[in-house]
Amino acid sequence: MSIETGLAGRSVVVTGAAAGIGKATALRFAKEGAKVAAWDVADAAALADELKAAGAADAFTAKVNVADAASVGRRSRTSSRGGGGSTSSSTTPGSSGTPSSSSTRTGPCWRR
Ligand SMILES: NC(=O)c1ccc[n+]([C@@H]2O[C@H](COP(=O)([O-])OP(=O)(O)OC[C@H]3O[C@@H](n4cnc5c(N)ncnc54)[C@H](O)[C@@H]3O)[C@@H](O)[C@H]2O)c1
Repeated sequence: MSIETGLAGRSVVVTGAAAGIGKATALRFAKEGAKVAAWDVADAAALADELKAAGAADAFTAKVNVADAASVGRRSRTSSRGGGGSTSSSTTPGSSGTPSSSSTRTGPCWRR
């Protein structure tokens, strides 16, 4: 079964993208032709080429700690200036606990 996300040619931020579910998600969006910004607290630099080879319209990596609001804020401002902003985000670190929309999560939730 194939699921279309409708993100071909659009920008998406994937956090926790260096490994596991985040990496699989980033590659899935890349295969669909999205522009993928892959964020991780660990070094994910090598992932950009892998995402482009998989079909990403463009791919960027950045070292971002999603538990640190200042780190996320800095990177978000840079991303919106350089690439027209993101249209979607996919978060994997800190995904346990009470389900909630990523746009309504607050600092303590991300630090869990
Ligand atoms: N793998 C599973 O079967 C499973 C099942 C249910 C829930 N989960 C949850 O999904 C999440 C991801 O699981 P996974 O198996 O992909 O883990 P993983 O350890 O393979 O990958 C997590 C990635 O997130 C990054 N990361 C961790 N903290 C970060 C932070 N503060 N800022 C930015 N990046 C950060 C890590 O560097 C790593 O690259 C976890 O919260 C896990 O508890 C996983």
